[in-house]
Amino acid sequence: MAIAIMTSGGDCAGMNPAIKQFVDYCYSKNIQPYLIYDGLEGLIDNTIVKASYEDVAGIMHEGGTKIRSSRSKRFFELAYREQAYNNLQQHGIDKIVVLGGDGSFRAFNQFYKDFGINFVGIPSTIDNDIYGTDYCLGVDTALNMIRSATDAIRDTSASFKRACVIETMGRDCGYLALVTAITCGAEVCMIPELEYDLDKIAQRLKKELDNGRKYIVCVVSEGCKKNVCTSTQEIVNWLEKDLGIETRATILGHVQRGGNPTVFDRLMASEFTTFAVDYLLENEKSNSVIVYKNSQFEFVSIEYVNSGKYEIKKELLDLARRLVN
Ligand code: F6P
Repeated sequence: MAIAIMTSGGDCAGMNPAIKQFVDYCYSKNIQPYLIYDGLEGLIDNTIVKASYEDVAGIMHEGGTKIRSSRSKRFFELAYREQAYNNLQQHGIDKIVVLGGDGSFRAFNQFYKDFGINFVGIPSTIDNDIYGTDYCLGVDTALNMIRSATDAIRDTSASFKRACVIETMGRDCGYLALVTAITCGAEVCMIPELEYDLDKIAQRLKKELDNGRKYIVCVVSEGCKKNVCTSTQEIVNWLEKDLGIETRATILGHVQRGGNPTVFDRLMASEFTTFAVDYLLENEKSNSVIVYKNSQFEFVSIEYVNSGKYEIKKELLDLARRLVN
């Protein structure tokens, strides 16, 4: 039987290096690799092709995913999953490497239960919010994109003695905003995982401004809107009203999901993918996820990944506690 790779859900940098490694590695083992284009939608619509070296030449340094991605509602329906299964049968594929988030893994687990299609999931999302793994592919590149934007915004804020509010992605997880606040020297960090006190922050910032601070960098996670905090614009209004400092907001948006994969993401892509292929070849049955935990790769069940909620390490949160009071 043959083996395929697909990318599902939100794209991230590192997916292309993973696809290239997958194809090159399979060929080195005399196995025919397949590419499933367009994620779960492509599985249903049979956009499945034999991979050639040409398909993956020169993609190592490119962000996003050459085989594209999708979020599929149709895959929730058994009839479409059956169509997908028939497509795979036609190509002789019964093993798939899936790059995506826990939603994609859950969809694949259902597919595994329905038709016995084996898979290994590689955690891939800039949000870094998958339970059981310390690292998800794409996070380092996203952080570097955000770092570069934040450094640039600081330049202009400093020139005008302004405050800037920078909103990062991350869905419900504050990891991107937290690491950005720590590594970009922010004065304020607002994430769902840390309770903050606006009055205390205002008192602190007033003192700092009186003591010579000329500008303020405030990093806010998009997850704050749904949970504990408020909207990014409200934070702008608060800074202007309570501190009397001219403030501008930047919602970084999808720029965070693009960009050339960093060396770290390229290396992680290679390792994740190689271990995933080996695992599929060595095990008759697999509905597993490869995780990176305490600097080691290991395989866990999909049930384990679904059994908890990702939590940011306390030590990392502690580094930003002074930015929430
Ligand atoms: O999960 C990745 C992510 O970029 C989140 O950080 C964000 O909330 C969401 O996807 C955006 O989704 P879309 O690309 O569909 O707008």
